[in-house]
Amino acid sequence: MATIENDARRAAAEAALARLPISGVIGLGTGRTAQFFIEGVAKLVAAGRNLRGVATSRASADQAAALGIPLLSEDGPWAIDVCVDGADEIDPSRNLIKGGGGALLREKIVNQASRLNIIVADAAKLSERLGDHWAIPIEVTRFGHASTAAVLASFGTTTLRRDKGGDVYATDGGNVIYDVRTGPINDPARLDATLRAVPGVVETGLFVARASLVLVGEADGSVRQL
Ligand code: 5RP
Repeated sequence: MATIENDARRAAAEAALARLPISGVIGLGTGRTAQFFIEGVAKLVAAGRNLRGVATSRASADQAAALGIPLLSEDGPWAIDVCVDGADEIDPSRNLIKGGGGALLREKIVNQASRLNIIVADAAKLSERLGDHWAIPIEVTRFGHASTAAVLASFGTTTLRRDKGGDVYATDGGNVIYDVRTGPINDPARLDATLRAVPGVVETGLFVARASLVLVGEADGSVRQL
């Protein structure tokens, strides 16, 4: 669909495509901006480039496979040259909130295995402090999730994520997600460590010092680099 937001997302994705190695292993992010990137990788593969992917979600794996991008085993180990992924909120230090699409755990695992992490986004994702606009998605084991949520409630308003049909949302790993609205976050690294220490918490959507570079697309096709 042609919208101003999609033009900006596509511009960011195309700028990331220009930074890929001639051949290598590419982390394939999740979300609308990453979808444009995956379409672009597929065109490069069709044109003969030796690029193989590691997907950050089943949705991205399905898209990549349907478009003919060879995928590495889900088991790893991988030596990923570049991962290109989206974000929900980005602060001036390139710290991120991710997980709007529910893929935060696989996204963080693939991020960790990547030599370079490029974030692609439109300008609406930029904010002065993480938490100004977004809640933090927190992946929690299904077992005892309501008890874990009672602990998370001390950090902010806590909402169990549901799918469009109203059922409890299940991640690719079979866990649930609570979106915890904290308000502006002063120390994202500390909050991430504190949240991850809660039994039942599998992973948080706080990505601290995990973006090598952020490409911010604009509707006119220009791209800024953070
Ligand atoms: C999925 C994510 C996405 O990268 C994030 O939600 C951004 O998506 P979009 O490009 O659709 O705005 O973290 O878990």
